[in-house]
Amino acid sequence: PEIGDADYDALYRELEALERAHPEWITPDSPTQRVGGAPLSAFRQVRHNPPMMSLDKTHSRADLLDFDTFLRRQVPDDVWDYVVEPKVDGVAFSLLYENGALVRAATRGNGEIGDDITANIKTLRAIPLRLADAPPLLEVRGEVYMSRAGFAALNRREEEAGREPFMNPRNAAAGSLKQLDPREVARRPLDAVLYATGAVKGATFPTHSGLLQRLAGWGFRTPPWLRLCVDIQAVLAAIDELEALRHTFPFEIDGAVVKVNRRDLYDRLGSTAKSPRWARAFKYEPERAETRIWKITVQVGRTGVLTPVAELEPVVLAGSEIARATLHNADEIARKDIRVGDTVILQRAGDVIPQIVGVVLDERGADAEPFAFPTHCPCDLRTQIARETTAAGAETVVRRCTGEFACPFQRLAHLRHFVSRRAFDIE
Ligand code: IVH
Repeated sequence: PEIGDADYDALYRELEALERAHPEWITPDSPTQRVGGAPLSAFRQVRHNPPMMSLDKTHSRADLLDFDTFLRRQVPDDVWDYVVEPKVDGVAFSLLYENGALVRAATRGNGEIGDDITANIKTLRAIPLRLADAPPLLEVRGEVYMSRAGFAALNRREEEAGREPFMNPRNAAAGSLKQLDPREVARRPLDAVLYATGAVKGATFPTHSGLLQRLAGWGFRTPPWLRLCVDIQAVLAAIDELEALRHTFPFEIDGAVVKVNRRDLYDRLGSTAKSPRWARAFKYEPERAETRIWKITVQVGRTGVLTPVAELEPVVLAGSEIARATLHNADEIARKDIRVGDTVILQRAGDVIPQIVGVVLDERGADAEPFAFPTHCPCDLRTQIARETTAAGAETVVRRCTGEFACPFQRLAHLRHFVSRRAFDIE
């Protein structure tokens, strides 16, 4: 932003007042028109021409060396740089500008056909509604995402309103774009980066790095980190550098993208049915950490359901400190044979809640005993625990305290629920 929020709001209110007095002055690209129109009943379909392709994945450094060898064989008489940039974990989308005016925004869909989400996309302040000195036709493509902070704030709001929280920022971004009411989308903390073109008439962009500069000049956000690499060895180094930085970005990145910088080679290199031959994605492994379980506690929920929780020696994983992890239920503990005192491997793979992947058996103490799930509720150590059955009589993984209102944990959970925002909303 060029100015602070307060200044922006003051200017915005002045503009609103002017437009109220002179409705004939309202233009379609006025900031007041970002949120407009009634909710849709369905999205119109959009055909992508050219199609929105995906990227072939490489899983190892050797794959990247093969990629380089392949390209050298295709264009033996030429030289080129590579660009390495973050692979933003969001939702691919496209923007169409005619004579500098935003006329259409669409989701990727299946690559051939997507949804027309123009009204939703116009609510994103990161998207320019008008471009200065733009070619007659310009389609730019990129990724809509939600920052980690925006995601956390949205989930707090969802939970307070009694709705299910979103699994991860990508889910939240995708779910937000699917809203039929743009006023709701305007409340979602969405952002976007642009990193490619679709159909273009009246302009050429000889290099990818030059394209990104032009896009930034028009006011688009572009990938916030980029390395220009003279050869594949430099690409490998850049991929390592980015991996070490991956948690310092305000949004999640799930890998690196390697692109040939010279766009004039794109036609010669061509594409497969699904992806261009001039680019590769390199996925990073989900981050893992080891720590010790010092205790397993059992929590009692409002309906009496018992949930075992691993209390951990605090460890930093994917940039934040983890001290607890859910063990889900007794069957899960038995299946993974998780014991108190065990060293366990934690993993965070896009999801916000870390998972226990498994136990490091080599480090298990000789006296470690299988976890004995309580047979009586921790509320009074007397009330029976019942295993829930389905209507057909089959046992499920759910165990409940049968104490109901006699169980103080259930009473407390009921009270919490009663005063909560979605019930009586008592502060
Ligand atoms: S280039 C024709 N650059 O990754 C290729 N894609 O797995 C156009 N993605 O569908 C894609 N960050 O949604 C490109 N810096 C980046 C990207 C990126 C994320 C997504 C994109 C694509 C998917 C492929």
